[in-house]
Amino acid sequence: MDLVRVFENNQKWIKEKLALNPNFFNELGKGQNPELLFIGCSDSRVSAEELMGLGPGEAFVHRNIANMVTGTDLNVMSVIEYAVVHLKVNHVVVCGHYSCGGVKAAMQSADLGILNPWLRNIRDVYRLHKNKLNAITNEDDKYDRLVELNVQEQCVNLIKTAAVQKAYRDRALKVHGWVFDIHTGNLIDLKIDFDTILSNIMEIYHLD
Ligand code: CO
Repeated sequence: MDLVRVFENNQKWIKEKLALNPNFFNELGKGQNPELLFIGCSDSRVSAEELMGLGPGEAFVHRNIANMVTGTDLNVMSVIEYAVVHLKVNHVVVCGHYSCGGVKAAMQSADLGILNPWLRNIRDVYRLHKNKLNAITNEDDKYDRLVELNVQEQCVNLIKTAAVQKAYRDRALKVHGWVFDIHTGNLIDLKIDFDTILSNIMEIYHLD
């Protein structure tokens, strides 16, 4: 990749934005008020804003390998705290994607060094849903289903945080589980039933 092109593209982008709105960058400079926190995979094909048709200022974005919401990861936990408590976003989205290399790696037994503890969190999702997953005989279908179940479990991990619980109670914050289908471009809402999940787990995870 010729990085000179990146800077040329940047100058073109500035011109395009200013042609549509001469105040575009003045307005951006005043601050942000995004309504949505998007937690997605670092995969280069999952271009968060582009696939949602959103522009600068509209989404607070966190990406890591396999869109994980891990309680001991200060990075994702800080992003959630800042977006939910300080920016007061109305929606938190965990967005997985089919053909996720992180999920694939967790389905295999290769020793991947420092990636092992990260991928172990996905193996834990597999263990939680082992019976359902092992009943799927087609490997591709099983892979797709693990991508979806991983999104669901990361949504559950979101609900374990005090920030999300409080915002859910106080101002009806919405949590969503989505999958981006790389093969078609479709964004799929998994329509996870949080009321049922919450009633099943809040006995254990409830924080005052
Ligand atoms: Co991925």
